[in-house]
Amino acid sequence: MKLWGGRFSESTDAWMDDFHASIRFDRRLYRQDILGSIAHAVMLGEQGIISNEDSLAIADGLRGILRDADAGLIEWRVDAEDIHMNVESLLIERIGEAGKRLHTGRSRNDQVALDTRMYVKDECAELSRALHALIETLLGLAESHINSVMPGYTHLQRAQPITLAHHLMAFAQMFLRDMERFNNARDAADVMPLGSGALAGSTFPLNRERVAELLGFSRISENSLDAVSDRDYILDALYACAVAIGHMSRLCEELVLWSSIEFHFVEISDAYATGSSMMPQKKNPDAAELIRGKTGRVYGDLIALMTTMKGLPLAYDKDMQEDKEPLFDAADTICACAPILERMLATARFNTEDMSRAASGGFTNATDAADYLAGKGVPFRDAHSIVGRLVRYCAARNIAITDVPLEELRGYSEAFDDDVYGALSIEQCVARRNLPGGPAPHAVKRSIKAARERLDKLIKVYN
Ligand code: ARG
Repeated sequence: MKLWGGRFSESTDAWMDDFHASIRFDRRLYRQDILGSIAHAVMLGEQGIISNEDSLAIADGLRGILRDADAGLIEWRVDAEDIHMNVESLLIERIGEAGKRLHTGRSRNDQVALDTRMYVKDECAELSRALHALIETLLGLAESHINSVMPGYTHLQRAQPITLAHHLMAFAQMFLRDMERFNNARDAADVMPLGSGALAGSTFPLNRERVAELLGFSRISENSLDAVSDRDYILDALYACAVAIGHMSRLCEELVLWSSIEFHFVEISDAYATGSSMMPQKKNPDAAELIRGKTGRVYGDLIALMTTMKGLPLAYDKDMQEDKEPLFDAADTICACAPILERMLATARFNTEDMSRAASGGFTNATDAADYLAGKGVPFRDAHSIVGRLVRYCAARNIAITDVPLEELRGYSEAFDDDVYGALSIEQCVARRNLPGGPAPHAVKRSIKAARERLDKLIKVYN
C-alpha cells in the first residue's frame, strides 16, 4: 500500500504511477533528503515530540540508507513515487515502528522545498568552481598577451586597436559577474522551509531554528504558504545559468569566427576539433559550436520553469514537480560546458602576428588621428571630418594614413606634424588608451590584478 493510501479504496493505474512518479529524476536529491530527515528527527527528539530512542534509531537508519545509496546499493522504486517516500518507506522497512514517526510535523511539500534548496546551495558551489577554473585560464592567457595587439570591432568591422589580453579580460568580467549571480542564487536558496508543513505550518512545537542550524541554513522562511510554493530560488539559479551560458556562447562564437581562414586569429587544438566525413581538409570547431548550441536548452530550462510557475494558485501544486529536470539540466550543461571551454582556450594557439597585421589595416588608428588633431587644438568635430576625408583618400589608394607624406597630410590640416607617424603607430594607439578599464598594457595589468582579488573573494564563499 502507498504511504498515503489510507483514503483510497482502489489502487492507481500503473500508467498513472509511472506518469506522476518523480523518482526517475529526484533520486538525485537522496543526500539532501536524508540529511534533511536526520536533522528533522534530531529536532523531534530534542523537543520531546518523539522519544530520544526513536530519534536515534531514525538517524541511525537514515545514515545506513545514505551509505547504501552512496554505494549504489539501493533500488529506487517507482511505486514509491518520489525520493521522499522512497527513503521513508525504506526506513520503515529497515527499522520498523520508529521509522513511522519520522514524518511527524512534516509534509512532502516543505520537504521537497528543503531538498531543492539544499541542492541549489550545493550546486551553486559546483557552478562557481567551474567558472573559477575558466576565469583562471582567461587571466593566465591575458597575462601572456598583454602586448598582443589585435583589432577591436564594432558591427564586426575593425574599429580601434586593442590587445588580446583586453579582449579576453572582457569575458573574464562576464564570468566574474556570473559567479556573483551564483552566489546570489545560493543566498536566495539559503532559507530553511521545514515547519511549513503542507501549507499551514504544524501543531507540533517544532524548533525551526534548530533545524536550520543543524543543516547550515542562515535563516528560516517567514510564511508557510509562500515557503511551500516558492521556487524563486530555482529561477534565480536558472537565470544565472542562462546568462552564464550566453556568455560562453559569445566567447565560442568568437572562437568559431577566429578559427576561420578569413580571420585566422586562432587555431583550436586537434583535441577540441573534429573532421568531416566527406571533406578531407576540414577541421571544425565543434566544441565551440556545441556550447553555443546548448544555450538554447538552458534558456529553455529557465523559460520552462517560469511558465510552469505562472498562475499557480497557492500553495503547493503538483505542477511544481516540473522544477527539477530544468534545474538539473541547466546545472549539468554549465558544468559540462565550462571545463570544455576552459580546455579549448588553454590549448588554443593564438596567431598574434595575424592579429597584429589585422590591427594595422582597416584604419583602426583613424580615431587616434582625429584625437591627434584635437590635441593640437583642432575642434574634435572638425578633426573627425578631416580624418574622414583622409581615410576616403587612403582607402581609394589602398594605403594607410601613415603612408601619406607629411606635405600631403598638411593639405588636410596644418596641425599635422612629423610626430604624427609615431603617434599613429598601433602600439602607441594602444599604449595611450591607459584610463582605468582601457586596453593599454598598464591598465590591463591593473585589471587582471583586481580580477584576481575579486575571484578569490567570490570563491571563498564556498570554502
Ligand atoms: N515529488 C513531489 C515534487 O517533486 C514532492 C511533493 C509532493 N507533494 C504532494 N503533495 N504531492 O514536487
